[in-house]
This record gives sequence, structure tokens and C-alpha cells, in this order.
Amino acid sequence: MNLMLNDNIYILGIETSCDDTSVSVIRGRKVLTNITSSQKIHALWGGVVPELASRAHHQNIVPVTDAAINQAGIHKSQLSAIAYTRGPGLLGSLIVGATFARAMGLGLGIPVIPVHHMEAHIMAHFIEDTDMQPPEFPFLCLTVSGGHTQLVWVTDFMEMNVIGQTTDDAAGEAFDKVAKILGLPYPGGPIIDALAAEGNPNAFHFARPEVPGFDFSFSGLKTSVLYTLEKAKKSDPDFIQKHINDIAASVQQAIVDTLIKKVKRAVLQTGAKHLALAGGVSANSCLRKAMQDLSAQLDVRLYLPKMSYSTDNGAMIAITGYYYLTANIQRTSNLNPTARWPLGS
Ligand code: KG4
Ligand code: ZN
Repeated sequence: MNLMLNDNIYILGIETSCDDTSVSVIRGRKVLTNITSSQKIHALWGGVVPELASRAHHQNIVPVTDAAINQAGIHKSQLSAIAYTRGPGLLGSLIVGATFARAMGLGLGIPVIPVHHMEAHIMAHFIEDTDMQPPEFPFLCLTVSGGHTQLVWVTDFMEMNVIGQTTDDAAGEAFDKVAKILGLPYPGGPIIDALAAEGNPNAFHFARPEVPGFDFSFSGLKTSVLYTLEKAKKSDPDFIQKHINDIAASVQQAIVDTLIKKVKRAVLQTGAKHLALAGGVSANSCLRKAMQDLSAQLDVRLYLPKMSYSTDNGAMIAITGYYYLTANIQRTSNLNPTARWPLGS
């Protein structure tokens, strides 16, 4: 794809698809600021409460945007464009970011670019950063977040094809739902990761549901954990507390095994030489290690996102907007937020 890359453009990226209000300013492909306000309120409820999320975005969007612009050392009149998450995500949350971006774009007289959230997770790899190398095309990307789990074949900027996806829960959702069963707060993924570090991944064997091709399934794992723990608690009510590290490590292993099995199959069948990981669950230490081992075993080059670009962030939205702007591509003229938006459509 022919791109007119330009280091002198500033893009504001706004992400409000779920429970993080995150705003970033980039100059060219370099991140100047990437400021995230995570909503703590959901921890009390064991998951994201959509109505509370949109209210919190309302409260956060102005101060977070102000901080992102001020700390970047620029004035808003220097912005070349505003990119925002159009979808997929929670509609009430998306509406806040989209409305704010469109109003600000109108006020400044600059383009407003609607961005696909899952495309942005992958595009985060193209941020210019000394800790990361951009993947070479074509590459296979495992995108794992709280709402999605996908295997994506990427042939060029903005050329992405989903070749496999979850048939039920997403990998992050599996982490969060098991955490809830264990009585841990939301989001459970990072807590399970930390607890697992002190546990034995082979202590318990939880189900690894099998589905054909490159698709995934995680709902059977959650049920398997639930039944195992219900049974064990009958003879020992403190079973979870006593074995929390081993349970966390075994659950994490089951999720990672399920993911790695399909990544391996996809690498072998596509002949991929470049492999990337993206999305919030890419912060998981066991998954990172397993991807490293797999890449060594199959002799493919692995690209891991920096932690700050793994979970939801405004910088990934800004960099995606940057590529659309410099390629002069308008993927959709529809600026309205949408809860459902298939990648590649
Ligand atoms: O991409 P993301 O920030 O938001 C969505 O687009 O959904 O992903 C959030 C998900 C949550 O399910 C969270 O529990 C999970 O990523 N997550 C992790 C870790 N850090 C975040 N899961 C496992 N281990 C982690 N270290
Ligand atoms: Zn995400």
C-alpha cells in the first residue's frame, strides 16, 4: 500500500469502547501521551456495568483529553485529525467518545476518523517505539481481549481477514468469569496471572473444549471450573482459599493451551513466518511465554506489544487513524457508533 507517511502530523486518539477512558496524542507514529482513566467502580459488581461505564466516560472524557493534549506540549489547534473508536463495544460508552470526537472535530474544522477497536489492537504494533518492531506482512495475529478472541490474517495495513474466532466466550471473559467464581474482583485476568505465578499449572485438569478449524470455545472451561469447585467445597468449605494459586495456575494453563493449539494449527496451515499477539490478554505472562516457545519451535518471528499498548489505550486508536489519514482511505462514511462491527467488513 502506498502511504504518504508524515512525521509532522498530530493525531488525537480517543478510546471509550468499554471501561477505560483513554486519550492519546501522537506525532507521526510516535506516542507523545497515552493517558488512561480506568473505571474502578466495576470491581464491586464482578464485571462492567454498561450504564455506570458510560456515566464514568462522561465524567472522564474532558479531563483526560485535556491532560493528553497539555502533557503532549501542544495546543489543540495543532491537531491534524481526531480518531475515535466507532465500535465494536458497549453502545453507551462508544456514544460518549464518538459524540465528543465529532463535536471537537467540528469545532476545530479537522477530519474525524472512525476506528475499529480490534483493528486498532493489531495496529498498535506499528507505533514507533524502541521496545517494538513492526511486523512484516503477511502475518498472523492472535487478538485476545475481554470481548473478542480472533485469529487474523493480515496482508497489509487495513487488510485483515478473520480466519478463526471464539464460538462463545472471549479469552479475557473466561479469565474474568473464573475470577468471579473464585470471588476475585473485576478485571480478574491480571489477578489470576499474579496468583498463578505461585501455583502449579498441573494441579487441576480443567476442560479444554474442542471446536473444528481455527475457532475457539471457552464456555466449557468455565463450567468445568465451577463443577470442580462446587464438588470440592462440599468436603472442604475453604477449598478455594487453600488452593487459590494452584486453581489460578491451572485455569490459566487451560486458557493458554486452548489458544496455543489453534495458533500452532494456523501457523502450520497458513505457512506464516511472522506471528503477532494483540489485545488485553496479551499482557498475560503465561501466554507471552507460550507464544515465545511456539515461535522458537516453529521458527517464526514473534511480535509482542509493549504492555502499555496491550490493554485498551488511546494510542492504538490514534495510530490507526494515522494510517487511514496518510493512506487517504475512508473505510466508512458512517460515523455513528456501533456495538457490533465485524472486522474486515
Ligand atoms: O483489550 P482489553 O483491554 O479490553 C477489551 O477490548 O475487552 O482487554 C481486557 C481483558 C480483560 O478481560 C482482562 O481481564 C484481560 O484483558 N487481561 C488479562 C491480563 N491483563 C488484562 N488477562 C490475563 N492476564 C493478564 N495479565
Ligand atoms: Zn480492547
